[in-house]
Amino acid sequence: MPKITYITSTGVEHVVDADSGISAMQAAVSHRVPGIDGDCGGVAACGTCHVWVDPSWLDRVGPARDGIESEMLALTDGRTPCSRLACQIELADTHDGLLLRMPTDQH
Ligand code: FES
Repeated sequence: MPKITYITSTGVEHVVDADSGISAMQAAVSHRVPGIDGDCGGVAACGTCHVWVDPSWLDRVGPARDGIESEMLALTDGRTPCSRLACQIELADTHDGLLLRMPTDQH
């Protein structure tokens, strides 16, 4: 059960004990982490789950995938090489300690 830390734009940390096999978006929404809406239910069609993966984790999480994830991220504000859609990050036990930062707002 990986422990995931979501950090809001104001620096507030929300630590979640997530189930392996679900997405980082699902873990955030089910624990009512503010700042991740997940409006499309996880099909990479809304961009309301944009997160910045802490650079120390990027090699383990991987960059945004080509195709629908990258196309949706291109429509979000503040995209960086660390940007991912949380709905496209499938959590595993190896993600214990993962740090994800959130933008000021999601749309
Ligand atoms: Fe809609 Fe991730 S939940 S893009």
